[in-house]
Amino acid sequence: MTLLIAIDGPAASGKGTLARRLATHYGLPHLDTGLTYRAVAKAMIDAGSDLDDEAAAIATARNVDFSRLDRSALSAHAIGEAASRIAVYPEVRRTLVAKQREFAAQPDGAVLDGRDIGTVVCPDATVKLYVAASPEVRARRRLDEILHNGGQADPAAILADVKRRDERDTGRADSPLRPAADAHLLDTSDMDIEAAFRAALAIVETARNA
Ligand code: DC
Repeated sequence: MTLLIAIDGPAASGKGTLARRLATHYGLPHLDTGLTYRAVAKAMIDAGSDLDDEAAAIATARNVDFSRLDRSALSAHAIGEAASRIAVYPEVRRTLVAKQREFAAQPDGAVLDGRDIGTVVCPDATVKLYVAASPEVRARRRLDEILHNGGQADPAAILADVKRRDERDTGRADSPLRPAADAHLLDTSDMDIEAAFRAALAIVETARNA
């Protein structure tokens, strides 16, 4: 039986970690679709292109090789910010969504995470999760991660950043971030990763056996 798991949620909600854990648990391939937008943004930055140049973004999206998405090379904060800017262009989205759907069409299934998986990329997924957490909790998690890696950051600036990214991702006209009508909401504000994983697993198991 095919098991296609769609996971959406805002930046730093923990959806990526949950997606990876679920993929490992079920032995399924996983695609972090944020990396596809990040790859386009990074290629544009590397080429010296203006992120406001829609035609350049479209051309870059068509040419980027998605078989080699390197998480560590794409993880920089500035690349995430740039990705959220080029993600507003409808034709960029159409190009990337087509590639994401190809990935999703595997016989045993797959796990995809992003902003529009349940609503646009995989509307027929076996199970849809919408992972949420308050902006304050997400900002705190990001700060902890930065401190853990030996860095420094201003907590107020991080919170402002999380809120700005939310506004852009939920406010864009094409495929804004929102839960699909049939998504299961998972608010992880008061959960650690273990508790969130157990809750997500329970939802998937129920859907799988339905
Ligand atoms: O999840 P992330 O931080 O890697 O995503 C970076 C940006 O990419 C995000 O702010 C908006 C965009 N994105 C999107 O529009 N649709 C997706 N399915 C995934 C990411």
